[in-house]
Amino acid sequence: GFVGVELLLMLVGSSVLLVVDGLRRDEYPPHFVFGASTSAYQVEGAANEDGRKPSIWDTFAHAGNANMYKGDGDIACDQYHKYKEDVQLMKKMGLDAYRFSISWSRLIPDGRGPINQKGLQYYNNLINELISQGIQTHVTLYHWDLPQALEDEYGGWVNKKIVRDFTTYADACFREFGDRVKHWTTVNEGNAFVKGGYDLGYLPPQHCSPPSIYNCSKGDSSNEPYLATHNMLLAHASVARLYRNKYQDKQHGLIGFNLLTFGFVPLTNTSEDIIATRRAQDFYHGWFLNPFIFGDYPETMKKMVGSRLPVFTKSESNLVKGSIDFLGINFYVSFYVKDNPRSLCIKDRDYVADMAVELTAYTTNKTSSDEIPIIPWTLQGLLDSLKSIYGKFPIYIQENGQQTHRSSSLEDWPRIKYLQEYIGSILHMQRNGHDIRGYFVWSFMDVFELLSGYEFTYGLYYIDLKDSTLRRQPKLSSVWYSNFLNNRTMDP
Ligand code: NOJ
Repeated sequence: GFVGVELLLMLVGSSVLLVVDGLRRDEYPPHFVFGASTSAYQVEGAANEDGRKPSIWDTFAHAGNANMYKGDGDIACDQYHKYKEDVQLMKKMGLDAYRFSISWSRLIPDGRGPINQKGLQYYNNLINELISQGIQTHVTLYHWDLPQALEDEYGGWVNKKIVRDFTTYADACFREFGDRVKHWTTVNEGNAFVKGGYDLGYLPPQHCSPPSIYNCSKGDSSNEPYLATHNMLLAHASVARLYRNKYQDKQHGLIGFNLLTFGFVPLTNTSEDIIATRRAQDFYHGWFLNPFIFGDYPETMKKMVGSRLPVFTKSESNLVKGSIDFLGINFYVSFYVKDNPRSLCIKDRDYVADMAVELTAYTTNKTSSDEIPIIPWTLQGLLDSLKSIYGKFPIYIQENGQQTHRSSSLEDWPRIKYLQEYIGSILHMQRNGHDIRGYFVWSFMDVFELLSGYEFTYGLYYIDLKDSTLRRQPKLSSVWYSNFLNNRTMDP
């Protein structure tokens, strides 16, 4: 059983696991933060408790959506009731920090209007528990769970009113929690949210830009991805301005934004594919980063998207430019990029077609098909290319991890191997001049996955869904991570 494995590891494990990979926590800079991540809808459960109202994710999951999988976050990991136990496990593991998100509709059930005191109490309890155990709080304000009320009232992100409401929500969070929370990420994977929610339609609110390959129900308009992104950039920037004007002096925190990033590798050495690779980079990362750093969309996007791309007014541009203190990046997979000019001929173009590239998953023959291939040099390539375009800026790796089938063994060697290699490579990237300030494993435990329900998992802890106590069981990866993290005190 697992206890046996754990014992064995305690006896010989530190030498086996730590010496073999040669990784040492104390080689990283003293303020480098190691943590693990989750998000509200994926772990909290208690979806209908204590005044919480639905978000677009509750609606989506309950509609049995997701042709892709079954399940919802009604109970999830029940962290709402088990947070104390979870914080104990984090403490025991040796985490410096926990990255979690606030459920907007738990704090402000209708999206705007009165605060739900019980929701407020919950986040205060969670934050206090973490702080009392010496664990830093890295908080995301929006992890895809828009209050359904705002979607119904005015269409959520495609309406400019979202800027006002998101800012008011953030204001409440800064006011209530900002004395104890110093790392704020406004939006998680803004680019993936917009692509899935407004272009291909496989994520809520399930809008599609034609031509769609998915079964979309809620309307289609080919400029919506661009519109939603424009409003999201303005909402983020408005929140950053608020923080700087009203809270920065007293609270001394940082405001970041998070992107789902990819390693892009040209399929061939032809100039077409090399140019296409830069285009993919611009469409996926530059779409947000270019405005943050330079105050405008990338030239390639202006050229390809034309009049469907919103234009920044001078004051919008000034607001957005310089509005991130750090970039949060989530990194899992990489793609080969092939130039695909055929897309230009499609009449009603969508975001994916505008890009005019064809992506194929970058695979290696070392990993099984369920697993994500381990190719850290593509992360290095990504950071190098971002630095060459945008200069050096502070980065937190906010998600990275290996997917396995829920039914697979607690001895999750593929996950250990993945984490080992990426964590190791980050030390080199740091030494090569990238300003990486922290690293978070996705995910602290097996959660309700937004793309695969309960079928595939990334957790350091396993939860047997048939066990009504939802007991957290350590996987071997949690022992490995813990050994690595505690190593900093092993040497004099
Ligand atoms: C992306 C999202 O931030 C998170 O919610 C998701 O579960 C993981 N990465 C894994 O796909």
